[in-house]
Amino acid sequence: ATTLGASAAESGRYFGTAVAANRLGESDYVSVLNAEFNSVTPENEMKWDALEPNRGSFTFANADRIVTQARGRGVSVRGHTLVWHSQLPGWVGGLDTNNLRSAMNNHIDEVMGHWRGQIHSWDVVNEAFEENGTRRNSAFQQRLGNGYIEEAFRRARAADPNAKLCYNDYNTDGQNAKSNAVYAMVQDFKSRGVPIDCVGFQSHFNAQSPVPSDYRANLQRFAALGVDVQITELDIEGSGTAQANNYRSVTETCLAISRCTGITVWGVTDKYSWRPNGTPLLFDGNYNKKPAYTAVLNAL
Ligand code: XIL
Repeated sequence: ATTLGASAAESGRYFGTAVAANRLGESDYVSVLNAEFNSVTPENEMKWDALEPNRGSFTFANADRIVTQARGRGVSVRGHTLVWHSQLPGWVGGLDTNNLRSAMNNHIDEVMGHWRGQIHSWDVVNEAFEENGTRRNSAFQQRLGNGYIEEAFRRARAADPNAKLCYNDYNTDGQNAKSNAVYAMVQDFKSRGVPIDCVGFQSHFNAQSPVPSDYRANLQRFAALGVDVQITELDIEGSGTAQANNYRSVTETCLAISRCTGITVWGVTDKYSWRPNGTPLLFDGNYNKKPAYTAVLNAL
């Protein structure tokens, strides 16, 4: 096939991108989005601060624009993200244990309920571990303790039984202390029947954090636990052939794992990448296809 989405679909996978609602009025952006990507993840619009800036009052409009655009052309949506320490409105940090528990449960119920049946996969919990494998000292960890991740996944299953429930993190792409901790958590969840369907590997790569040599082995060991794996926020710093080779290798890694169900890049064009002055994506600032694009297309 001649587009990323259609080529990925040939092996039953999706090829997605992060989308920003405030770019949906830009015709070049929308043309490339519609032509190439058959899955979308709202880049910021489904985060807690965007959806529930004040306790109990929800603002769905920007995220709705993305979901409506995607569903209007028949492509799937990844929900990102329900429980995360970052982009959290200030009021959450001031809650005591009982209030935080009810706020978390209510947030999951209201947000998942709003789009029930319309979200392919949800990042239920994002970035809960430190590099050394200990739990990140977030408000959730402090007030609710180790059990908060399990609580969130159980609540999420009830709130939208059709959505695949993912744990998502960065620097877990290779085998290391952090990915070992996530692995142990998933293994524990599977053994005790705690609902979890997928693990997201953000895969933000650069010179300091290159594509790991054991990427495939790491994703494979997660898949062997009985969960899908997804590459959820892919971007790779660099340019030209070197960047293209890295993108090819990431794509080949996913294709080599039957339970790797899709790849999402973290933006359509370099000009709107979250990486300042970076060129980590598949289209340049003028929406020209880069060598990395061709490498991915040919590998799919
Ligand atoms: C980033 C967005 O791309 C930026 O626009 C925003 O300012 C900060 O968040 N891990 C995640 C994503 O899970 O939500 C982050 O997205 C990038 C790192």
